[in-house]
Amino acid sequence: MNNYTSGEEIFFDDHELIVSMTDKKGYIIYANDVFCKVAGYEHSEVIGQPHNFIRHPDMPRSVFKLLWDRVLAGKSIYAFVKNRAKNGNYYWVKAFVTPIIENGEIVKIASYRRPISQFIKEEISKVYSALIEHEKYNKLEDSFQFFLDYLAERGITYDLFIDRLSMNKSISNVGVMNIDFDQFYIDHVIFKHNIIYAAKEKKWSTEVVKPCCCRFGVSLKQLDSMPFTAHPSWGKVHQYHNEVHSLMQEYLEKASQDAASNVLNEILDKVENDTKLLFSNLHNAIDTYR
Ligand SMILES: Cc1cc2nc3c(=O)[nH]c(=O)nc-3n(C[C@H](O)[C@H](O)[C@H](O)COP(=O)(O)O)c2cc1C
Repeated sequence: MNNYTSGEEIFFDDHELIVSMTDKKGYIIYANDVFCKVAGYEHSEVIGQPHNFIRHPDMPRSVFKLLWDRVLAGKSIYAFVKNRAKNGNYYWVKAFVTPIIENGEIVKIASYRRPISQFIKEEISKVYSALIEHEKYNKLEDSFQFFLDYLAERGITYDLFIDRLSMNKSISNVGVMNIDFDQFYIDHVIFKHNIIYAAKEKKWSTEVVKPCCCRFGVSLKQLDSMPFTAHPSWGKVHQYHNEVHSLMQEYLEKASQDAASNVLNEILDKVENDTKLLFSNLHNAIDTYR
């Protein structure tokens, strides 16, 4: 097997389709002309080879585990794959791999491949490098779990991950898409009204929710490992959120001490202002990753 990889990329056209078929064990039984042209092999060199003969070392084992798990369970799968050509160059594909089933038995497996965009190549390379690094020091089962966790942390399944990248959209912030930030804004408006009401009713023992414990605070914590939290606005999100909660605490304390109404109103004005700043900074941080 030729293990030399030069790093030169081979491109093929949008209208071209690379096709191969294997038996149940992954030995190639068919390859079309485009396959041979792009990979740089003669037909005779391809037929009978195990499909890993074009495997590129930048491909994580976890991806192939998922591919084989799915296919042997009788299901199809899409995967972004970097392959190695005979001369050591490489080419990227989006593969659709599907078992061909006759009388309830898998008789062969087909793969159809199209080219992918530069954006996908860059995004998927980041994911695959992280997986490869993990696989260097861990058992395949553990790395596979790491892959699933990696996706879960971003709020997506493998199939959604493929779909989203296929639309040339980043996966860095998908988890954020599942969060209803407008609801959190409303939560804080309600929170403010509850405290004003508690003061009016002289319910001084009313507990002011701590920033770590409101629903938004819990979500902020979960999001703290996301790439967009490197944005300078993210620190301000935390800062204004903490301020809103401590101002409400101060409001209740001052009200219990019979503070003048202009002092109380000043606090409420600050709360309103900080809440607005909190959410504008939040959108600022997230929008850069949309
Ligand atoms: C139909 C079919 C097509 C495949 N196409 C490729 C491919 O293009 N490149 C690749 O590296 N592996 C491909 N594989 C997966 C290989 O069989 C193998 O699992 C993979 O190269 C990893 O090799 P390894 O298990 O020796 O590490 C394909 C498998 C099937 C069933």
